[in-house]
Amino acid sequence: MFAQHTLLVSLVLITRCHSQHVGYKLSKSSEPPIRLGILDSFVQGVHDIATVLSSVPDTISILLNQDEEQINLYAPSDNEDAYLNITQLTAKYGYPCEEHSVETEDGYIINMHRIPHGRKNRMNNSTVFLMHGFMDSSDSWILQGPDKALAYILADEGFDVWLGNARGNKHALRHNTLNRNQSDFWDFTWEDMGIYDLPVMIDHALNVTDKESLYYIGYSQGTTSFFVMTSLKPEYNDKIKMMFALAPVAWMANVRSPLVKMFSPAFNFLSNVLWDYNFINTEFLESFSGTICGILGTNCHSVMYMIVGHDSKYMNDVMPVMLGHMPTTSSTLQLVHYGQLVKSGRFCRFDFGAQRNMEIYGAEYPPDYDLSNVAVPVVLYFSENDWLADIADVQILEHHLQNIYESNYIQDFNHLDFLYASKANEIIYSKIVTQILDFAEVD
Ligand SMILES: *[C@@H]1O[C@H](CO)[C@@H](O)[C@H](O)[C@H]1NC(C)=O
Ligand SMILES: *[C@@H]1O[C@H](CO)[C@@H](O)[C@H](O)[C@H]1NC(C)=O
Ligand SMILES: *[C@@H]1O[C@H](CO)[C@@H](O)[C@H](O)[C@H]1NC(C)=O
Ligand SMILES: *[C@@H]1O[C@H](CO)[C@@H](O)[C@H](O)[C@H]1NC(C)=O
Ligand SMILES: *[C@@H]1O[C@H](CO)[C@@H](O)[C@H](O)[C@H]1NC(C)=O
Repeated sequence: MFAQHTLLVSLVLITRCHSQHVGYKLSKSSEPPIRLGILDSFVQGVHDIATVLSSVPDTISILLNQDEEQINLYAPSDNEDAYLNITQLTAKYGYPCEEHSVETEDGYIINMHRIPHGRKNRMNNSTVFLMHGFMDSSDSWILQGPDKALAYILADEGFDVWLGNARGNKHALRHNTLNRNQSDFWDFTWEDMGIYDLPVMIDHALNVTDKESLYYIGYSQGTTSFFVMTSLKPEYNDKIKMMFALAPVAWMANVRSPLVKMFSPAFNFLSNVLWDYNFINTEFLESFSGTICGILGTNCHSVMYMIVGHDSKYMNDVMPVMLGHMPTTSSTLQLVHYGQLVKSGRFCRFDFGAQRNMEIYGAEYPPDYDLSNVAVPVVLYFSENDWLADIADVQILEHHLQNIYESNYIQDFNHLDFLYASKANEIIYSKIVTQILDFAEVD
């Protein structure tokens, strides 16, 4: 009870900084209270941030004006991997890495990465495409290093590995007419990744490799945008042999992450702040989480866990390296769209409000994504301790998919463990390799 009270008070303080737009009722009795069950240190952390923030006028604009140098995202690490970019990391560990630039139909220029083979230069017969999660990038697939990170494991297995990037992240900050300082640049959600980014990247990979189809591995938002693509552009089903969904996110009514809830209109905390600021600032989220981490110092872990689930048993070593590469830039509308799903309990297109919905969709409410269009065989990996991809929501997804090849329950993984747990190879990646090889044989 104390913990819950502290969080609510803290949020009042945070939202109050954003003066005239704040009209939230934080604890309407009809709304379910946030289920807390999280680390005490986090609660103390939020309390401390709120205390600091409340003493500063118009704190949000200060957060907005932070630039990268001012944000100390991670304690200085003696692991140099925290400071090396993807090109430097792959070179350090002896993997080839190519950068490929594609342009989406609506003008975004995206750099994707390719590890065409592994250290032993084995023959490859399958092309595998990996898509990262929210506020992340192609970097995420290599950070654990050789023998542990999925991209390296697949490359060493002889696969041709392509790492996609979503518009707005650090590898995709260019556009042929807009620049990142313009609000219009940031006017997108993960639906646009499904409609524009994934198709152009997949077409490019198929074109270069001269293949008809490839294997798709998505993590979190990389699964959301996949389901958007295959439901709105069903012709892409034929280009995917099989899809692996790690910590899949589609239906979200049961999400447990307090941070995600904080941004959902269902809970009325910060969602209006996001609306107001999306078109003004591009790096709100980066600054926001960066500032929280900066204030918390060594307790930064707790902030991550507040997003993803409680303590990982498996990822101590890689944490500084991970925090050296993420979070990266993204549009706040991505979070707003997820927040809408939490509230509506549906997996549907962006809700612009009745009037604009009428103009855009010809209906008052946004239409559902039609998953009966998804024909690709899907392999699911999900876990009980994942606060973003809750099992109850994954079950709803499972129910809507026509072609489940396999559904794998993983014990004890939080949301980030799917990428960063030292045991991810043993528990998941080795299985993916086997599944691809088995499938390729009957193909
Ligand atoms: C990584 O850093 C090197 C050296 O600064 C630079 O040449 C390269 O383009 C960078 N790679 C990426 C993907 O940013
Ligand atoms: C991959 O293709 C090469 C050349 O076409 C062939 O020799 C090899 O047997 C194939 N490997 C597998 C595992 O199918
Ligand atoms: C964006 O604005 C910053 C600061 O005003 C400036 O340094 C930067 O060059 C601008 N970027 C682009 C792409 O115009
Ligand atoms: C495929 O690659 C060729 C040669 O690089 C290029 O001319 C063609 O436009 C590409 N097609 C697509 C669909 O990207
Ligand atoms: C894998 O296949 C691609 C496309 O055919 C080719 O560019 C690449 O060199 C191959 N890698 C190996 C190790 O054969």
